Amino acid sequence: MRNFNENTITDAVLDRIAGAPDPRIKQVSEALVRHLHAFVREIRPTQKEWEFGIDFLTRTGHMCDDKRQEFILLSDTLGVSMLVDAINHPVPEGATETTVLGPFFVEAAPERQNGDDISGSMEGDPMLVTGTVSTVDGQPLAGAVVDVWHSDNDGYYDVQQLDEIGDLAMRARFRADGDGRFHFWSIKPAAYPIPHDGPVGEMLEAQGRHPWRPAHVHFMISAPGAEQLVTHVFVAGDKYLDSDVVFGVKDSLIRNFVRCPPGRAPDGRMVDTAYYHLTYDFGLKQVASSVQAA
Ligand code: BEZ
Ligand code: FE
Repeated sequence: MRNFNENTITDAVLDRIAGAPDPRIKQVSEALVRHLHAFVREIRPTQKEWEFGIDFLTRTGHMCDDKRQEFILLSDTLGVSMLVDAINHPVPEGATETTVLGPFFVEAAPERQNGDDISGSMEGDPMLVTGTVSTVDGQPLAGAVVDVWHSDNDGYYDVQQLDEIGDLAMRARFRADGDGRFHFWSIKPAAYPIPHDGPVGEMLEAQGRHPWRPAHVHFMISAPGAEQLVTHVFVAGDKYLDSDVVFGVKDSLIRNFVRCPPGRAPDGRMVDTAYYHLTYDFGLKQVASSVQAA
């Protein structure tokens, strides 16, 4: 087989893949070739444009290290991360909706006690977060592990300024109590631009897009027998809710961060300045294997 042209090359490549021993690899490879060839046929790139595309992907790879994952940012900003999330996380009645993990999760976040203030040395408007974790039928998930992380009031995460602040802050791992409740203090997060000093930032600019995410608090919640929940709660009224650069906003994840006057807070603590109060009740799905066994 030789002398391929624009009309015969796609089938030639598909024929070559036809004997792939793993059926899933065969399926994925065939779909990749069909869609990639269709894309090239549609846009009919010049040789120079094709070279630019290869260089863009090369620079995206070179930007990646243990702190920066430019390919995930590319997936996020092209809506692919949220598409994969939507395919894998149907939401039954009572379950909290999911959204992107993002690059600022830290596996070994400090373990803290309910009621602790996790703001470290950061300054900002105090924020009380109270919440519950339960099954989709409302049974409390006692001892659920609740990881939280969020930006400061300038829109930066601790890991982006570790040299200046010296320690992790605005992130922690809590355990829900016997009634599935947890609470902590921190500072209210602000909206922020995703890292845009690399190829993804260049792409956003060329597409006439801004790099901003609306203010939010991240949650990752696990409990035995439940599917791990990865989500955020967004600040109602944020100007970027309808143009989140990574398409992660869902109505059910938006809450008023209620401004409260100084005084006794709902957790009994006396506060001498105004503070914000976020409360959210999370519903976790049963893991698929325990649904079948039930
Ligand atoms: C974040 O919310 O932390 C995030 C998500 C996707 C891309 C960049 C940041
Ligand atoms: Fe974030």
